[in-house]
Amino acid sequence: MTDNVVWHHATVTRQRREELHGHKGSVVWFTGLSGSGKSTLAHAVEEMLYLHGCRTFVLDGDNVRHGLNRDLGFSIEDRDENLRRVGETAKLFLEAGTIVLAAFISPLKRERAMIRTLMPHGDFLEIHCGAPVEVCEQRDPKGLYRKARSGEIKEFTGVSSPYEVPLKPDLAINTGEVSLDVSVQQVIQMLKCRGVIGFNFPDGEPS
Ligand code: ADX
Repeated sequence: MTDNVVWHHATVTRQRREELHGHKGSVVWFTGLSGSGKSTLAHAVEEMLYLHGCRTFVLDGDNVRHGLNRDLGFSIEDRDENLRRVGETAKLFLEAGTIVLAAFISPLKRERAMIRTLMPHGDFLEIHCGAPVEVCEQRDPKGLYRKARSGEIKEFTGVSSPYEVPLKPDLAINTGEVSLDVSVQQVIQMLKCRGVIGFNFPDGEPS
């Protein structure tokens, strides 16, 4: 970073945007193994929030790796850089007063802790999608576990690369057992309790 770049302060602040939106911005971070249901849950939560007028955006590992992070692979160094860039991107959306739903394996505790430190206190909510590896491997929606077992894919999380389970996530959901609808409600409830959306946010889809 150069000393010659000076921060320019916006007059349209995060607070003013949040007032306009009628809810707080937040970074809701879904971590878990490949196939644990992170993206599915993130999109389902987004759908529910959107239907009730919230400003949302999903950041998803598989998508971001096609563009912004197309130069990165799956070594620990590349995952660190993937998550650093995504964390900074999420922070921009947070400044825009958006509820960001970020679905990334984010396998290491220190990576998730690093992302948390990027955000103002309380704005990073970590959700562990805890379907066990056996269930994820059974589902194998993209056929990647099969390739990992045969050695075609190296450094595959849960098979040949580590995943560190969060010890104190803001919410833990056993996505191997809990239905999608119930999981969505658990996330919505958490967002109410954390003051991101109001307690008057309806329980189901609008009729
Ligand atoms: S992270 O570890 O850097 O957080 P990210 O969430 O962006 O990972 O990307 C994970 C997605 O990339 C998986 O859902 C899977 O589809 C794909 N993928 C390809 N190779 C690997 C690998 N070696 N380990 C994990 N996921 C992989």
